[in-house]
Amino acid sequence: MLTQDISFPLDIKKLGYKPAYLTDKGVAFCGDSLDLLNKLPDESINLVITSPPFALQRKKEYGNKNQDGYIDWLSSFARLVYQKLKNDGSFVLDLGGAYEKGKPVRSLYNFRILINFCDEIGFFLAEDFYWFNPSKLPSPIEWVNKRKIRVKDSVNTVWWFSKSEFPKSDVRKVLTEYSPRMKKLLENPDKFYAPKKRPSGHNISKGFAKNNGGAIPSNLLQIPNSESNSQYLRGCKSLKIKAHPARFPGKLPEFFIRFLTEPGDLVVDIFAGSNTTGFVAETENRYWIAFENNLEYLATSSFRFIQQEPNEQSLRNLYEEIISNNPIKILPKSKQLKLFEGAAI
Ligand SMILES: C[S@@+](CC[C@H](N)C(=O)[O-])C[C@H]1O[C@@H](n2cnc3c(N)ncnc32)[C@H](O)[C@@H]1O
Repeated sequence: MLTQDISFPLDIKKLGYKPAYLTDKGVAFCGDSLDLLNKLPDESINLVITSPPFALQRKKEYGNKNQDGYIDWLSSFARLVYQKLKNDGSFVLDLGGAYEKGKPVRSLYNFRILINFCDEIGFFLAEDFYWFNPSKLPSPIEWVNKRKIRVKDSVNTVWWFSKSEFPKSDVRKVLTEYSPRMKKLLENPDKFYAPKKRPSGHNISKGFAKNNGGAIPSNLLQIPNSESNSQYLRGCKSLKIKAHPARFPGKLPEFFIRFLTEPGDLVVDIFAGSNTTGFVAETENRYWIAFENNLEYLATSSFRFIQQEPNEQSLRNLYEEIISNNPIKILPKSKQLKLFEGAAI
C-alpha cells in the first residue's frame, strides 16, 4: 500500500494519477508533463527548474523537437508553469545553444524563448545565468574540429524567470568561498586596504573588509558535467542499462534550490530525465515532484534514492516493479536496511 507523508504540500491521491515511485519527500510521475501540470493546483509550486529537450537539429535519443515549432511547443508548458507557480515562485530554464542547420550561424531560439516568455506569458527575467561547463566536448564537429572556424561552445543559457518582480531569493544561501586575496584582506584590512575614492566617484570604504561568510556568486556558474561514479551510474551499469544522456550536474539544481527556496518548499522538474532535481531537492530537505514521459528513465532514476549500496537483484526488483507500473515507495534512509534484507521491495 502506498503511503504519503502527511506534510507533503499536495494530496497526491487527489491528482488522480498513479505515481511511478515515491520517496520520503517526493513523487515521480510518468507521463506528458502538459497533462500532469494541469492536475496540480494553481499557485502551488515554489520553483520549477528544468532542462527541456533542446531544439537541436541532430535528433537526440530522447526526442528533440525541431527548431520550427519549438518555441510554441515550449510556451505551452511555460503558460501552465506560470499558472501553477506561487506568486513569489521562480522558473529556471536551462537551454543549450544551437547552430542553424548546415550553417556556421547560431540559432536565436533561446533568446526568442526569453523574449516570448516575458512578452507573451508575463514572466519577468529576474536574472540571466550562464552555465559554463569546462568539460563540454567540442561541437559541432564540422565548424569547430574540421574547418576550425568556430570555437568550442561551452556555455548554456539559464534563464531565471519569476512571476513577480520580487521572487523569493536569498543570496546568503549560496555564498561562495572567498578568494585567497580576500581572505588575506579580511585577516588584516589595514595592511591591505587604504580607503579612498575611485576615479568613478565610488567611495571605497573599509566596509568592504567585512566578513559576510563568503563571496557573492556571479551569474556565471562554472560547473563541470563530469559525474562518473554516482550511485545512479553504478546502478545503470550493473543492470546494463544506458544512463540518461543529458543529465544535470547536481550542483546546478543545488544552486537554484538553495538560492530560491527554503526547506519544506515544493520543487518541480517537468522534464525530469534521471531526476537529478528530485534527488537534490530531497537532499536539501525540500519536497519535489518529477514529470518524465520515458518510464525507463524514471525507473533507473529511482536508484538515486537508495541509501545502502544495493545488490543487483534488489536493483532489478525495483526497476521491474516501476517498469511494470507498480508504484513503489522508497523508504526513508533509516528503514532501508530492512528493505534490502528481504526479497520484497
Ligand atoms: C534534457 S532531458 C532532462 C535531463 C535531466 N535534467 C536530468 O538531470 O537527467 C529532457 C527530458 O524531457 C523528457 N521529455 C520530453 N518531452 C516530455 C514531455 N512532454 N513530458 C515529460 N517529459 C518529457 C525527455 O524524455 C528527457 O528525458
